[in-house]
Amino acid sequence: SEVDDTVASPAKRLRHDTQQLAYPSPTSAPRGPTPPFQQPTQLISFSYTPERVLEFDDSALRYFVQPPNGAQLGHAYERWNRRPESRPRIDGLLRAFSTVRAKSHPALASGPVGVVSWRGVMTRILTAPYAEERDGWELNVMSVGGVLYFEEFLSEARLEDKNNLEPRQRRQTYFGYAFESYCTADKPGVPNVPQHPGDPPGWGGDVDTNVQWCSVVRTKLGDTRMVIGGEVDCVRDKYTGTTDTFVELKTSLVIRGPQDSVKFEKYSECIARLLLLMIGYRKLLKFYMQSFLLGVPEILVGFRTPSGQVTTTQTFKTVEIPRLVRGKGPHAWDPSVCFAWGDAFLEFLKTQIRDKEERTVWRVAFRPKVGVELRVLDDKEVEGVVAGEERVGFLPQWYWDEVVT
Ligand code: A3P
Ligand code: MG
Ligand code: MG
Repeated sequence: SEVDDTVASPAKRLRHDTQQLAYPSPTSAPRGPTPPFQQPTQLISFSYTPERVLEFDDSALRYFVQPPNGAQLGHAYERWNRRPESRPRIDGLLRAFSTVRAKSHPALASGPVGVVSWRGVMTRILTAPYAEERDGWELNVMSVGGVLYFEEFLSEARLEDKNNLEPRQRRQTYFGYAFESYCTADKPGVPNVPQHPGDPPGWGGDVDTNVQWCSVVRTKLGDTRMVIGGEVDCVRDKYTGTTDTFVELKTSLVIRGPQDSVKFEKYSECIARLLLLMIGYRKLLKFYMQSFLLGVPEILVGFRTPSGQVTTTQTFKTVEIPRLVRGKGPHAWDPSVCFAWGDAFLEFLKTQIRDKEERTVWRVAFRPKVGVELRVLDDKEVEGVVAGEERVGFLPQWYWDEVVT
């Protein structure tokens, strides 16, 4: 088949007790037509409250405002209300999917859904052809009633690492959230006013990473209809109930001498391609795919110094990014390579898992430059996944009861 003969030798390095899908070569153009990717349609939105309660409302929705010049991203670091890293769960997305199914949402009428996944997982899958050595990942997969459910798998060690970041790394993570605070307001067109004494102009309120606004969309890759959910940072001007005004916010480090932040003004008329070089091709692929999957049409990047001062911002139209990158040297990427691989990956899973016991939990391990391995988890491993909760595999019991009747 198309994928089997793409890469012959790396496949030999795969283990022999598993089903395998060999890695696509990012430089070889995909053969045949690129599987089409359908424009995402929003099915439902929901919010997580500061208490991390899921509500089917838009209380956590934020509106874009231009951040002030020279915004300091280290502000109020000590007041960060940080959500602890826990095992990533699919529960919230299943509640949303269950709700839209109960309402017989018209966007679900066109045919059966093949995949239910958080956006972050789909981003990893689709960007795999361009992953670097350290960008491996593992997924738990279940197939129930013809639907594939994906859940990221983090080992205990990985979870521990994420909860115990080096102070420097943790601060850098905070910068991204602080940028979101400066760029967003509770109401459209109303500039942020300081809340605490000492808050700088434009500060949008202290960072609470429990609070998130999420959108769930329906889309289709090749023959596979997908329901994908993910966080949306804000909307521009108004919320229309569609993805049209969604904005993704990103920060990017600008590594230059200290005086260069002053000179930086000169770059403002420079073409977007120069900025691309600064963001880096791989990072831009992640920005692109993450936004594309949810139908987010605009990405606003804040360039910051190592100490967390925003020097300039640049907005990108998501759909125009591939054209900026195409054919630009050895680090260029092509989304059609990603979609061809993603399609092959989904077909591989469907073929391997079809007609198997539905309670089975499968583990997919992706190794960059090698490929994916698929295997069945043993009872002890499944216990680790269930973690003593009321679950069938990693699906919550209530959901299982709802779909298996
Ligand atoms: P950046 O936007 O500067 O990357 P997102 O951009 O997906 O909305 O996430 C907001 C911020 O969360 C990011 O800011 C980054 O600080 C943090 N973040 C997201 N994913 C992360 C990851 N995998 N590891 C560390 N930090 C992450
Ligand atoms: Mg976000
Ligand atoms: Mg963001």
